[in-house]
Amino acid sequence: MRGHLQKTIIPMLALMGTSCPSGPDFVSGNAVDVQIRLDVNTRGAEIADTFYGLFFEDINYSADGGIYPELVRNRSFEWKTPDPEPKLRTLIGWTVNYNKAGEGSVEGATASPFSTANPAYVTVSVTKAPYVIANRGFAATPDMVLNPGEDYRFYFYARDKDYSGNIVCALENGDGQTISNEISVTLNSSEWKKYGPFTFSSPSGGKALLVLRCEGTGAFDLDFVSLMPTNTWGNASQWPHGGLRADIVEALKSVKPGFIRFPGGCIVEGAYRHETAYQWKDTIGAPEERRENSNLWGYMMSYGMGFHEYFQLCEDLGAEPVPVLYAGILCQARRDRPTEADYHPGTPEFNALIQDYLDLIEYATGDAGTTWGAKRAANGHPDPFNLKKIGIGNENWGANYWRNFDAIRSAVLAAYPGIKVITTTGPLASGGINDEAWQKINALYKDAIVDEHYYMEPSWFLTNTRRYDSYLRNGVQIFVGEYAAHETSRANSWYAAICEASYMTGLERNADIVKMASYAPLLAREGMFQWAPDMIWFDGGSITNLTPSYHIQRLFSTNTGTVVMPPEKAPKTGDLFHASSLDEQTGVIYTKLVNPFPKAKNVVVSYANADLETEGASVVTISGEKNSRSVSISEDAPSLNNGAITVRLGPYTAAVIQVRLKTGPK
Ligand code: AHR
Repeated sequence: MRGHLQKTIIPMLALMGTSCPSGPDFVSGNAVDVQIRLDVNTRGAEIADTFYGLFFEDINYSADGGIYPELVRNRSFEWKTPDPEPKLRTLIGWTVNYNKAGEGSVEGATASPFSTANPAYVTVSVTKAPYVIANRGFAATPDMVLNPGEDYRFYFYARDKDYSGNIVCALENGDGQTISNEISVTLNSSEWKKYGPFTFSSPSGGKALLVLRCEGTGAFDLDFVSLMPTNTWGNASQWPHGGLRADIVEALKSVKPGFIRFPGGCIVEGAYRHETAYQWKDTIGAPEERRENSNLWGYMMSYGMGFHEYFQLCEDLGAEPVPVLYAGILCQARRDRPTEADYHPGTPEFNALIQDYLDLIEYATGDAGTTWGAKRAANGHPDPFNLKKIGIGNENWGANYWRNFDAIRSAVLAAYPGIKVITTTGPLASGGINDEAWQKINALYKDAIVDEHYYMEPSWFLTNTRRYDSYLRNGVQIFVGEYAAHETSRANSWYAAICEASYMTGLERNADIVKMASYAPLLAREGMFQWAPDMIWFDGGSITNLTPSYHIQRLFSTNTGTVVMPPEKAPKTGDLFHASSLDEQTGVIYTKLVNPFPKAKNVVVSYANADLETEGASVVTISGEKNSRSVSISEDAPSLNNGAITVRLGPYTAAVIQVRLKTGPK
C-alpha cells in the first residue's frame, strides 16, 4: 500500500515570497498545471462539524446478518415475504430433521404465543429420537462464523406439551462434528419459559450451525432461539441486550462520522402497506418484544438494531443522530395505489403519526421523568441523547407530501422549537419534482434542512461540482443525504469514487449552505444484497471490501478544517478539483486535490500570511486503476519551500496536503 507517493512528489518549486510567477510556470522542468494560492487571512464559511456523516439503512442485510450480531436467522419464526399479500416462511434459516435419523415434525403456530408482538412459534413433535433441528445462520450452508477463544450466549423459549427427554444444544461444523460444549436442557414448564442464557465457551473457530438435538419424544413449543457473541462493540451497561459487530463498527468509527442518518431510506415507508411502515416504538426494549417487520428489500427485520441501539451507536462514535420518520406517504417510487391511500391530517392515524415524532424526540431528549425519557432511562441511558434534527419523510413529493410535511413540521416545532426539521426534494437531482420542492422550500420553509438524493453516472459528478455555487443563500441548509456515482455495471470502482471525490470538493467549497453529506448505501453483505454499489462489503465473519468510495469518505471526513479557505482564483475548467480548509483550533490547513483525469498534474499550493511549521507537513495520496475495487494509499512528508508545497498528482489520484500554522492567532 505504501510507496506510491514517493514517486508522485516532485522537487520543490523555488518561489519568491508566497506568490507564484505569472505565465507558464515550471517545477524543475515540469510545467505547473495548477496553482492554488491560499491566504490565511481570507477565510470562508464555517464547516459544520456534522459535514461528513453516514447513512445507515437496513438494506443488503446491513442490520440482521450484518452489524447486529445475532447468529440465528429467523430466531422467532416470524419470517414473512414483504408482498402486498405477505406469506409466512416459518422455517427460513432452519433445517428440520437435520441428522435424517429421527422422525417428527416442526409446524408453525400462532395460537398462543408468549409475545403478542411476535405471534409465530413452532410446535416440535418427535416420534423417533434423536431428532435434530438446526439453524445455519444467514446462508444456505453453515454460516455462523465463530471466533476462536470467544464465548457465545444462547437462550430459547419453550413450552412443554408432553415431551420427555432432554434437548441437547451444541454448535457443529458442516461435517457433523460438535465444536462446542453441549448444553442439555430439560423442559420443566407447561407455560412459556425462557431457558438460559447459557454459554458456549470458546468453541473452535470456523463456520458452524446451531443444533437442538431432541433426545426424547413428545411435543413442545419453541420460540425465540438466540445465539450471540459476547465479544462485541459496546459497553455492557449501555448495551444491555448485547452490542454490535465490532469489525463493522470499527470501520464506521474510522470515518469519524459527524452524523448518522437512520433508518432509511425506503424502509421508512414499509413494504407497500402503512402497517409495515417503520415504527420506531417497535424497536426498543426487550428484543423478544420488538415486533418483527418485513421491509421492501425482501426480508424480515428483527429490530435487534433498533432506535436505542442507533442512538447509542451515534453517541459511541461522537456522531449526531439524524432520524427520518414516515410521513404517511407510501413509497412513491414504487407506488401502485391511489394517492387517496396516503394518510391525511386530522385523521386518527395521522394524529398517531405526529405523536410518534413527538414521542421519539421525547425519548431522545426528555428527562428521565418524562414518559418516553423514562423508557430511555430504563433501557440503560438516563441522560438524553444529542438529538437536534429530524427528517420528515424519505424521497416524497407532491401535494399530499407537502400537506403532511407542513402539518408534521408545525406540530414538531410547536412542541420542540429547537429541533431542525429536514424535508426532501425526492429521489432525483433535477426535474419537475426537484423544482417543485425548491419552490415550496424557498417560499415557505427557509428554516428547513433539505435532503437531496442523487445516484448518477460518474460523469455527472464531474460536471456538477458547481451545483451549489448558484443556490440561493436564503437560510435554507442542504443535506446531501444519499449519493453515489453509478457505473453502468453498478460495480464499485475507483473511477466512481474519484468522481465522487471531485464532487465532494464542491460540497465543501459551499459549506455556507451545505451542512451534511452521506454516501449511500453504507453496508452490504456479500451474496445477499439488493443494491450496489455500496460503501462497505462484509460476510458473516469479516469485512470483505472497504471500497474506494469508503476510502474517499474517510480521507475527506478525517481531513477537514472548521472554515473554508477559498483559493485566490476559482479553479479553471479541466483543472483538477480542490478544496481547502483551516482548523481554527489546531491551526492545520487541509488541501484536498482530486485528479479524475488520465493525465498527471503538477500542483503548487502556496500559503500567504502564514507562519507555517517547517516540519510535519504530510500528503496522503490515494490512487488506483480506474476499474479497480481497491486502492493504493501512501503518505509522505513533503518539504515546504518558500511557503509553498509542490506535488505531482498522478492520473486518477486524490490527495490531501496538511500543513500546520505555528502558534499564534489562527
Ligand atoms: O439507498 C438505497 C435507496 O435509494 C434508499 O432506500 C432510497 O432512499 C433511495 O431510493
